Amino acid sequence: MIDTAADPVIDPRGVNSGVAPVTYGHGERPPRGDYEQARADYTCEQDWGAYSAADHELYRRLYERQAAQLSGLACEEFIDAVGQLGSPAQIPRFDALSEKLQRATRWEVVAVPGLIPEEAFFSLLSQRRFPVTGWIRKPEEFDYVVEPDVFHDLFGHVPLLFNPMFADYMQAYGAGGLKASRLESCEYLARLYWYTVEFGLIDTPAGLRAYGAGILSSAGELRHSVTSREPQRLGFDLERIMRTRYKIDSYQSTYFVIDSFKQLFDATAPDFEPIYEDVAGRPELTTEVRLPSDRVF
Ligand code: PHE
Ligand code: FE
Repeated sequence: MIDTAADPVIDPRGVNSGVAPVTYGHGERPPRGDYEQARADYTCEQDWGAYSAADHELYRRLYERQAAQLSGLACEEFIDAVGQLGSPAQIPRFDALSEKLQRATRWEVVAVPGLIPEEAFFSLLSQRRFPVTGWIRKPEEFDYVVEPDVFHDLFGHVPLLFNPMFADYMQAYGAGGLKASRLESCEYLARLYWYTVEFGLIDTPAGLRAYGAGILSSAGELRHSVTSREPQRLGFDLERIMRTRYKIDSYQSTYFVIDSFKQLFDATAPDFEPIYEDVAGRPELTTEVRLPSDRVF
């Protein structure tokens, strides 16, 4: 689930339980998940028994297509941990995965019906609980699905939660999100999520590699982000990222590159309140723009 960035909209239709469905963007599509089963914090049961053989088979095909491309494109930390998801033959059971994560980094995964509101999302992250969408895409969405599904959420996000430094970053991000909500600065923080957690690249001795979940779970963007000559790749710069808009419906034109997860954690540790004020006073940047101060890879 998430995309805090994607501007989820509370949809007033079908509000029968405590929580309202959330849809992606301002479109007309109805929400896909069953929000009536969700608790007040938006978590629900995974209902593993409800997946069909075709669902498991689709997960396996998605998994194997991505796994085949990881070498040379995904960062080592991701490759080392992806096996923790267990056999690709079946959609993982969240409780079994949570046991492993608990032991590794004190994180767990929790099921949610789909996209959830920003505050609920931040709150779960701040408790080291990563919300994972229960449903899987339809076979005709094999190449592209608009909203995050169980494959994106698990395959894209969960392996790096086994990395202690990245795991701490995600918790700090959640706590920072609760604060950004109070300061009405979620838009800026959402851009940070987008350009790191979803579409981040990392510079390694072997070359640039992907660590962002949106890239790692994408059939085409993984190679594009690391090897194509089209997009620009710029050094991580917190304020620059907070000023930069992004695209939700095509490959990114700009990727930001970190040197290490420690750099990411340290650069985001300072109090963001004065940074938000500063960013609010400066113009937004389009995704294509290049500044003289950019460090270009
Ligand atoms: N340091 C940020 C703040 O004061 C919190 C944060 C940490 C946000 C890590 C994002 C990532 O708001
Ligand atoms: Fe995501």
